[in-house]
Amino acid sequence: MKERFLLDPGIVFLNHGSYGACPKPVFDVWQGWQREIERNPVLFLGRRSAPLLRQARERLAEYLGADTDELVFVPNATTGVNIVAKSLSLRPGDEVLTTDLEYGACSVTLEKVCAQAGAILVVAPVPLPFTRDGFVQAMVDAMTPRTRLLMMSHITSPTALRLPVEPVVAQARQRGIATLIDGAHAPGQIALALTSLGADYYTGNCHKWMCAPKGTAFLHARAEHHAGLQALVTSWGYAAPPGPSAWDNFIGQGLFERRMQWQGSRDLSGFLSVPSAIDFLAEHDWVRRCASCHEKAMALMHRVCARTGIAPIAADEYFVQMAPLPVPHQDGAALRARLFDTFRIEVPVTQHGNASRARSFVRVSVQPYTTDADLSALESALEQLLKPG
Ligand SMILES: Cc1ncc(COP(=O)(O)O)c(C=O)c1O
Repeated sequence: MKERFLLDPGIVFLNHGSYGACPKPVFDVWQGWQREIERNPVLFLGRRSAPLLRQARERLAEYLGADTDELVFVPNATTGVNIVAKSLSLRPGDEVLTTDLEYGACSVTLEKVCAQAGAILVVAPVPLPFTRDGFVQAMVDAMTPRTRLLMMSHITSPTALRLPVEPVVAQARQRGIATLIDGAHAPGQIALALTSLGADYYTGNCHKWMCAPKGTAFLHARAEHHAGLQALVTSWGYAAPPGPSAWDNFIGQGLFERRMQWQGSRDLSGFLSVPSAIDFLAEHDWVRRCASCHEKAMALMHRVCARTGIAPIAADEYFVQMAPLPVPHQDGAALRARLFDTFRIEVPVTQHGNASRARSFVRVSVQPYTTDADLSALESALEQLLKPG
């Protein structure tokens, strides 16, 4: 499988999680769209782009268990989170709730919108070792009549935990609290059914685990929120007359599509290549291969835990294809650099918690292109680097 990717054969690549990796056939389709755009950019962007983007969204919606009209392309999950956060009309004293397991760029987005409005960002600590009941209880306990939005990751960045978001979404809905799921790592790792999940907003990346080109992601929003969501860039979607018109082939039809998708002239080739990534996964029996990746990730985690004497932070069912290998708490940047500089292993070292409760993890990603030799290389490098004395 590795030969189907463009990865440097001189490195052991165990960090699919940060930016993904695009297979050669999908990359070729991406370049094909770029060439097609250049044949007549005016015709393509001005008169063909909206129906083509709609077809791509239809394929993505089918893959995600979503309604095409509730889905728009955005360049990355950070943008999805920003659109929702900046569209909230927060008032002083309102609360926005999140967990202490979030991705820094998304937490800081919430901090900024809360600070601007005089609202309060409530960060609920999720108890570790992780349990479903402990997580749900922590989130429910932190909900108040002032909570306007709850944001949580579907799969967390520093700890790689697959959060059981469904019962929390249901509890929030009962209390009239809107939910935003940061699914940056979810599509391609776990099967999604966005309509039935019932979150108010869900953003996810295609460029990570779906192996689509860089700059491809989506924002899913329930229909009742479309009018209230503001694009980060105001453009023609706000000027178009309502109803069918010549604008349809340029910026699309629905309000959500028109406002969010046309963000000025930009390269749309990545979005148009998302169906080819979905095809690639299907043609290569990805779901079955990924089940074996999970097994390998868990086996490695348990071997490393046995060696370090540090217990895993959760049972295997709360991880998918990323595993946080617990190592003694240390300078994460220094460990990452040594793994790369000395062993040519690309793998992130993440951290969670403060002071005496601070923890460090080597967050390994296992994809169908990952070989047993890659995982053994990491295991023996850690053995050497973590030797006492
Ligand atoms: C949980 C989580 N959310 C959001 C992001 C941001 O993704 P992007 O850089 O594609 O916007 C990441 C990136 O790794 C992440 O791990």
